[in-house]
Amino acid sequence: MNLTPKEIVEYLDKYVISQKNAKKTIALALRTRYRRLQLDDELKNEIMPKNILMIGSTGVGKTEISRRLAKMMKVPFIKVEASKYTEVGFVGRDVESMVRDLVVNSIAIVKAEQEEENLSKIDNYVLNKIVEKLLPPLPESASESKKDDYRRLLEAMEKRVDSGEMDDRTIELELDKINIEFEDTNLPPEMVKVQESFSKVFATINKEDNKKEVSVKDAKVLLRKEASSKLLDMTSITTEALRRAENGGIIFLDEIDKIALSEKSQGRNDPSKEGVQRDLLPIVEGSSVSTKYGTINTDHILFIAAGAFHVSKPSDLIPELQGRFPLRVELESLTEETLYQILTQTQNSLLKQYTALLDVEGMRLTFDDEAVHSIAKLSHRANELTEDIGARRLHTVLEKILEDISFNADEYKGEEVIITSKLVHEKLDEVVEDDDLSRYIL
Ligand SMILES: Nc1ncnc2c1ncn2[C@@H]1O[C@H](COP(=O)(O)OP(=O)(O)OP(=O)(O)O)[C@@H](O)[C@H]1O
Ligand SMILES: [Mg+2]
Repeated sequence: MNLTPKEIVEYLDKYVISQKNAKKTIALALRTRYRRLQLDDELKNEIMPKNILMIGSTGVGKTEISRRLAKMMKVPFIKVEASKYTEVGFVGRDVESMVRDLVVNSIAIVKAEQEEENLSKIDNYVLNKIVEKLLPPLPESASESKKDDYRRLLEAMEKRVDSGEMDDRTIELELDKINIEFEDTNLPPEMVKVQESFSKVFATINKEDNKKEVSVKDAKVLLRKEASSKLLDMTSITTEALRRAENGGIIFLDEIDKIALSEKSQGRNDPSKEGVQRDLLPIVEGSSVSTKYGTINTDHILFIAAGAFHVSKPSDLIPELQGRFPLRVELESLTEETLYQILTQTQNSLLKQYTALLDVEGMRLTFDDEAVHSIAKLSHRANELTEDIGARRLHTVLEKILEDISFNADEYKGEEVIITSKLVHEKLDEVVEDDDLSRYIL
């Protein structure tokens, strides 16, 4: 991906309002990796990524930024919650599994590209297999004229299968073991080997059971998988995938504050939190992790950590880990104006979502501009008076305003319903100003 920092920020601007610093820092980090890859080997290996720590209270867009990046970037990218991991030796997911997940993600990307490139080959394979089932082949001894007829039939059949006309017919397929394979990336590579040999054994025992009656429609899906595993070169895919994960992979470590040990809650601290932090060190620093596809070095993987740090502070992380996230960005809390922009300027904003949902019921929902300002104002006020939950407040506030209308949508079929500022205030004034009420309702 060779987008310039400006282009990355431009893209993020469509979905995330304000938070300029965070966007800039991330965009720059991504570009730096691209620049690094253009250098000669000696220099290339000297340049380490600068990991990023995003700090900002809840609901201000931390996860949203990463979610959007993940969608846009064609680089291997995974988002994991730090709080989900347990220290090595305890039951649960160990931190190395995040690197394995990254490799799996990378493989999926490279494989999809290869499938795209070999689209016509794969299509042909699928088509031939299905037509073969629908039209039994002629015996060798058939006469020339019969063979001619057969060829014409074959062509006609191919067209009908291709157009979807035969989708409801059922055919019998012998499915290869790949279709019943299951994957658990959580397992260490030694166990994966065991798992693989088990599934091989079962696959041979159950050969007969692999015969299945399926509709042509489903067969198309199942055979595609078979085709890509037969026609694509898995070794070169894995090599390329490992290379990309090593040099371009990004791991987004969400909820990192949840594994920090805060002084305030000392008594209740889970002893394994510090263990998880210690386990993270070598991975963030750069080490080799073995996966079922081969060993991967984590030196150049970019880590972006994010956390609200309400209870704990970044300084509550063990010092070694703090040092491995040299770039700090703080996300601003949302003002009334930002909330207004989130409602009106983001692609797929909440207002658009509600309008689309109610459109299904045949009702035209519109918000007049003054009403949107009121919503932003009251949401901001509720954030001030109770907890600041950022843009998430908009969800609860809108839900409150629209609950009756949404419930009675059938009564408004074919009508236009305009949400006015008056209605917003009617529904909310009392709730927002009453501390107890708003704690429960908003
Ligand atoms: N700056 C923003 N621009 C647009 N939408 C936003 C912004 N901030 C938050 N949102 C919206 O608010 C919701 C919550 O945001 P998000 O998941 O990013 O919160 P977060 O910062 O990760 O909070 P937490 O610390 O609780 O995980 C999302 O639906 C997101 O679309
Ligand atoms: Mg989040």
